[in-house]
Formats: sequence, structure tokens, C-alpha cells
Amino acid sequence: MMNWIVVNDEKEMAKAGADFLLSRIINKPELLLGLATGSTPVGMYRLMIEAYRKGEADFSRVRTYNLDEYYPILKSDVNSYVRFMRKNLFDHINIPRENTHLPNGEAKDGEAEAKAYEAMIAEVGYMDVQLLGIGQNGHIGFNEPDDKLCVNTHVTALTENTVAANARFFDSPDCVPKHALTMGIGTIMKAKEILLLANGKNKHAAIEALKDDTVTTAIPATLLKLHPNVTIVCDKAAFEG
Ligand code: GLP
Repeated sequence: MMNWIVVNDEKEMAKAGADFLLSRIINKPELLLGLATGSTPVGMYRLMIEAYRKGEADFSRVRTYNLDEYYPILKSDVNSYVRFMRKNLFDHINIPRENTHLPNGEAKDGEAEAKAYEAMIAEVGYMDVQLLGIGQNGHIGFNEPDDKLCVNTHVTALTENTVAANARFFDSPDCVPKHALTMGIGTIMKAKEILLLANGKNKHAAIEALKDDTVTTAIPATLLKLHPNVTIVCDKAAFEG
């Protein structure tokens, strides 16, 4: 089931996304919350920080599990997702550091780290709410278009398209890590509820593919059509092109 919320712009998307997540945290203070990086959720995270500062939100019992992390990458790298999450959210709210989880980009054995991350999530029983952005090629997390997709958390190679799209954050495309640790399609689909955010014309093709009644591993986000409770908040530019 896909619930569509089409808004005017990025600002309204951020507000709708923040309202959605904050209402879930109010209903269940110990929410298991799957988080995403990228430029899309930054405005929403800012509003969540604002809500905390105004005393409208309490994150002290929330437990977060991020979708993905580059691999290998040092935690101290300015482009690591752990650093991104601290800078854009965790450092500004009252979530205990030990309640926040990301795949470890510094792990010696990536496959073992992937297995351990999946096991940790299985142990808590999967996410109550999973936040997603979407790649221009329809990837979710770092589940890239392919003939086959992985069910569980795994190490994956990034496509050229994704390396190019993410190069804007790095000194040059050569500096973008070529691999990542990511929750699998199954890890994501086991969330009780999914919130996908998208804004901007460059996401239109990926969003368009979510409108019909077909699924394909060539556009991983289409598999979300098989999930019973997905809300897509997107702006007009992403919806209409
Ligand atoms: C990145 C991340 C995804 C993110 C997507 C879109 O590569 N791995 O989790 O949703 O690409 O990023 P952005 O929001 O910057 O467009």
C-alpha cells in the first residue's frame, strides 16, 4: 500500500516528514527508527532538532539504526555517514549515543560486519519506522539496480551513477568509496512502516516508477509496492518532473 503525500517544495516535505516521525515517537517513545543519510532528510532533521529544543520531542528512549555506511571509511572521515548523522541530528538531540547504530565502516571484515548488523536488528525485532531517500536510479539504502538483490545486510559495490551522484560531497569522484555496507531489501521490508522522502526534478524518473503496478529489481524502490504500509512524501518537482 503506497500512501502519496505530494507537497509544493522541499520545505513542506521536511515539515511533513518531521511531523510523521515525531508523531510516531510520541506514540511510542522507545521507537525503533531506521534512519537515512543524503541531502534529502537534512531539512527534516533540522525540524526534529527544533522540536527537541522547544521541548516538543524527547529522543531519550528512541533507538536508531541507519540504513548504510560507505565501506571502507574511517568514522572520522568528513563524508562518513556516522559523522553525517552526528552533525545533522545526534549531536543536537537527547538521544544517548549508545542508542544510535550504523554499520561500522572501519570493520576489518565487511561481510562479518554485515552479518553482525543484521543479527543486531533481528534481535530487536526490526524497525517500527524506516526512513528512506531514493537514488536517481531508484536505489534505496545502497541496494543498487541489479538482476538480483540481497535480502539481508551486505557489502555492495556502488554503481557509476551513484558514485557520480555522491561525488559532489567529495574532493573528486576518485575519492568516493566504491563499496558500502547496506541493509538489504528484506531488512528494509521487515519494517512495520516505511517513510520515503524525495524532492527535486532529478528524482522524477525514480518516483514515476513507483506509480504503476509493476516491480523490478532494475529499480529497487519498486519492491516497496509489496509492503503493506509505505508513505511517500515528495514535492511537485519529483512527482511531476
Ligand atoms: C545515497 C544514500 C541513500 C540516499 C540516496 C539519495 O547514496 N545511500 O540512502 O537516499 O543516495 O541521496 P540524496 O538524498 O542526497 O539525493
